[in-house]
Amino acid sequence: MQVAGSHAVVVGGASGMARATAELLAARGARVAVLDRPGTAGAEVAAALGGTFHPLDVLDADATEAAIEAAAEALGGIHIAVNTPGGGVARRTVGKDGPHPLDEFRGVIELNLVATFNLNRLQAWVMSRNEPDEDGERGVIVNTASIAAFEGQIGQVAYTAAKAGIAGMALVMARDLGGLGIRVNAIAPSLFATGLVQGIPPEMEAQLTKDAAFPRRMGRPDEYAKLAVAIVENPMLNGGTIRLDAGTRFSAK
Ligand SMILES: NC(=O)c1ccc[n+]([C@@H]2O[C@H](COP(=O)([O-])OP(=O)(O)OC[C@H]3O[C@@H](n4cnc5c(N)ncnc54)[C@H](O)[C@@H]3O)[C@@H](O)[C@H]2O)c1
Repeated sequence: MQVAGSHAVVVGGASGMARATAELLAARGARVAVLDRPGTAGAEVAAALGGTFHPLDVLDADATEAAIEAAAEALGGIHIAVNTPGGGVARRTVGKDGPHPLDEFRGVIELNLVATFNLNRLQAWVMSRNEPDEDGERGVIVNTASIAAFEGQIGQVAYTAAKAGIAGMALVMARDLGGLGIRVNAIAPSLFATGLVQGIPPEMEAQLTKDAAFPRRMGRPDEYAKLAVAIVENPMLNGGTIRLDAGTRFSAK
């Protein structure tokens, strides 16, 4: 799918990898709507791109539906959807104080997996109403997993389960939506310089990225953005989860 002239929703776009993606998509000629929590930099990011901001909490299914509808209306349809909201808790299956609290496990699944699926079903429904382009494409969805989906570390059981769910649903969703000309992929990053880990001292960065082959550093948000745009532009990329990890394989700790 061509980026220029397309309409993109970027969920989580106030910050980090999604923000870099919103900026790259806009620089390549897409119309962009930024969706993120109220009180974030989403409005400023959107304004700088000539786009619109739609506040939402992805844990609120009704607010999510309203925000996707508002973004679709502001853009005049959606061709590209990039989704990054997510996160985890550091908790072992059994800890000193007892078993992993079930509500915490459910919370991580809700934020990463259920909210991503909710976004995807709503985004795909809007995309299904597009006229197909000359290649028969109506839309492209990019979700955010993690390499923890494949080799989660001690204390990541909930996060790994959730991200493995995102990786696992890419193929079946691509199959579900193939008849509509909508592709679905996930990106599985290693450690990226966003949020709290942004600006950590070089010694700590070296320690955290010691399992990488090369380069031994954290990824940069624009490197995620470049892959997201490559996925949009390459019609043969479908149903997969692409590692973006400099050859990193996380060890147990
Ligand atoms: N940074 C890393 O090292 C790394 C590695 C692997 C995977 N990931 C995944 O990347 C995603 C985070 O992206 P980032 O690293 O660019 O972080 P980030 O914190 O810079 O951006 C995440 C954005 O999502 C938004 N968000 C969070 N919860 C939300 C909610 N409930 N409703 C609406 N918006 C919400 C935040 O406000 C923020 O703007 C997560 O899914 C995380 O699991 C990150």
